[in-house]
Amino acid sequence: MMKRKIIVAVTGASGSIYAKLLLDKLVQLQGQLTEVAIVMSDNAKQVWEFELDDASHGSYPFKTYAKNDFMAPFASGSARFDTMVIVPCSMGAMGRIASGVSDDLISRAADVILKERRKLILVARDTPLSLIHLNNMKTITEAGGIICPAIPSYYSKPKTIEELAMTVVNRVIDLIGLENESYRWDGID
Ligand SMILES: Cc1cc2nc3c(=O)[nH]c(=O)nc-3n(C[C@H](O)[C@H](O)[C@H](O)COP(=O)(O)O)c2cc1C
Repeated sequence: MMKRKIIVAVTGASGSIYAKLLLDKLVQLQGQLTEVAIVMSDNAKQVWEFELDDASHGSYPFKTYAKNDFMAPFASGSARFDTMVIVPCSMGAMGRIASGVSDDLISRAADVILKERRKLILVARDTPLSLIHLNNMKTITEAGGIICPAIPSYYSKPKTIEELAMTVVNRVIDLIGLENESYRWDGID
C-alpha cells in the first residue's frame, strides 16, 4: 500500500474529542503514513482547551503549521498531500471552502485538495442545519468533497464518550483508506 500524506485541520466547532482521537489513532498508524501535517484555527485551540481541559493539541509528533502560513507545503498542489480531514469542521470553515474564500491556510489547503481532485473529508458539526449549511454541503459534495457528519452511531453499544466518539473517527479512518481494526457490523445471528 502506498504511504499517505495527510493534512489534519481542526476548527472551532464543538467536538474537539474527534480531532484528539483521530490524531491519537494516526500516531498508532504511522507505519502507513509518510507525513501528517496539523493546522488549527484560533477558535479550535480555544474550544479544545475548554472541552477537553488540556492543551494536548501541541503534543503530537507531527509538524504543526500556523493558520496563516501560506508558505506551508500543502498550500500548493505540488506538495502532493493526498488527503485532508477537517475535524471537527465548523459551519464557518465549510462556508469559506464552499465559496472558494482561501483567506487562511485551512481554506486554502481545502481549495488545493479540491482543485487537484484529491480527498477532502469534512467532519461537519452543528445542529440544526440551515439552508445555507445544507447548500454548502451540497456544493462541496458536487466539487468532490466528502461530508462525514460528526454523528455517532450506537449499534456497537459504546459504553464511554470515547467509544461513542470513536464510532465517528473509525468511519473517518475508513474514508481516508487506512487499515484499521474497528467494530464492524456483521448482522444479527
Ligand atoms: C464552545 C463552542 C462550541 C462551538 N460549537 C460550534 C459548532 O458545533 N459548530 C459550529 O459551526 N460552530 C461552533 N462554534 C462557533 C465557532 O467556533 C465559530 O463560528 C468560529 O468562528 C469558527 O471559526 P473557525 O472555523 O476559524 O474555527 C462554537 C464555539 C464555541 C466557543
